[in-house]
Amino acid sequence: MAFFYIGVMSGSSLDGIDIALLEQDDRPRLLATHYIPMPEDLHAELLGLCSSGTDELTRAALAEQKWCRLVAQGVLTLLEEQNMVAGQIRAIGSHGQTIRHEPARGFSIQIGNPALLAELTEITVVSDFRRRDIAAGGQGAPLVPAFHEALFDDNKEHRAVLNIGGFSNLSLIESDRPVSGFDCGPGNVLLDAWIQSQHNRPYDEDGAWAASGKVDAALLKTLLSDPFFLTKGPKSTGREVFNLGWLHHHLFQLPTLAPENVQATLLELTALTITESLQSAQSSTMELLVCGGGAHNIALMNRLAELLPNTRVSSTAKFGVDPDWVEAMAFAWLAHCCLESVPANRPTVTGAKGLRVLGAIYPA
Ligand SMILES: Nc1ncnc2c1ncn2[C@@H]1O[C@H](COP(=O)(O)OP(=O)(O)O)[C@@H](O)[C@H]1O
Ligand SMILES: [Mg+2]
Repeated sequence: MAFFYIGVMSGSSLDGIDIALLEQDDRPRLLATHYIPMPEDLHAELLGLCSSGTDELTRAALAEQKWCRLVAQGVLTLLEEQNMVAGQIRAIGSHGQTIRHEPARGFSIQIGNPALLAELTEITVVSDFRRRDIAAGGQGAPLVPAFHEALFDDNKEHRAVLNIGGFSNLSLIESDRPVSGFDCGPGNVLLDAWIQSQHNRPYDEDGAWAASGKVDAALLKTLLSDPFFLTKGPKSTGREVFNLGWLHHHLFQLPTLAPENVQATLLELTALTITESLQSAQSSTMELLVCGGGAHNIALMNRLAELLPNTRVSSTAKFGVDPDWVEAMAFAWLAHCCLESVPANRPTVTGAKGLRVLGAIYPA
């Protein structure tokens, strides 16, 4: 029997909120989408909440209401556009907005007020997907590998799916063993932060600014010395580790560099940390499928292909799935798993003690 779900993803890039309508029978299928660019004031409030500050509990409570009202409006618009009504949707899977991710200290915090979302949309909401995995000793992230496997496992060849959002994560798909995966490190987050600080632009379109600079070997070496890159998975990361302060800490130790060379080096860092971790975890990858906003970064995609001469590198569009919507689809699918009591974490990915059903349910 086919069910309809809505997936809501608001990633660490803080670029906007992705809302996807998914039809799920034997396979998940994307039916329609709605994108809400992050309003400037909410962007600043959410970014502010990613580190400690005065009165942060109140600020978080108010920011999540604002975020939730935007999502509710977006969901209702999407339904109206599709001539659908709330009663046709089995559930919304809402990831929420991550404001802290510290699994080593036992927590990962996503705000989003699922109770208010259920109230405003009159649709059941499934949320809080990460905490159960962390409670079971896992990283709580990445959660998308099981979905990547559901979409892209062809049982024939070794594939990897790479999501390049604010951070990058890999899923390794082989028919003869469970899917594995991990966060590779910063995806777009440093590229965005640097161009924002130098040119007041939200991102480096097509990676053109990075392509105009030269990789600085000394900077690259010091960036690569971060312990995160030296440890093997299970591992996950966030803005607590990789942020503009982290970059400045490394820049201060070096002679002043041309800003475009810093950008080129950050792009190289993203590309190298992805390809090196892929090669050490699954050297036999035939096909690398890229999703997330980073799939539009031409310079980055070219560099990935150069560094992986024996692997076909393309976006997930090659297999009919729009790279911009994979994550939102994943959270719709995770809601389905929760309502069907199907475990959706993968201990091989997160390091949890075992399989767990993920998510908390807020009935319509
Ligand atoms: N044309 C493009 N060129 C380069 N980078 C892009 C382009 N389009 C999107 N991006 C990058 O993708 C990011 C958004 O990716 P997304 O998958 O939404 O990440 P998240 O899940 O963290 O929100 C933007 O912040 C930007 O860095
Ligand atoms: Mg996004």
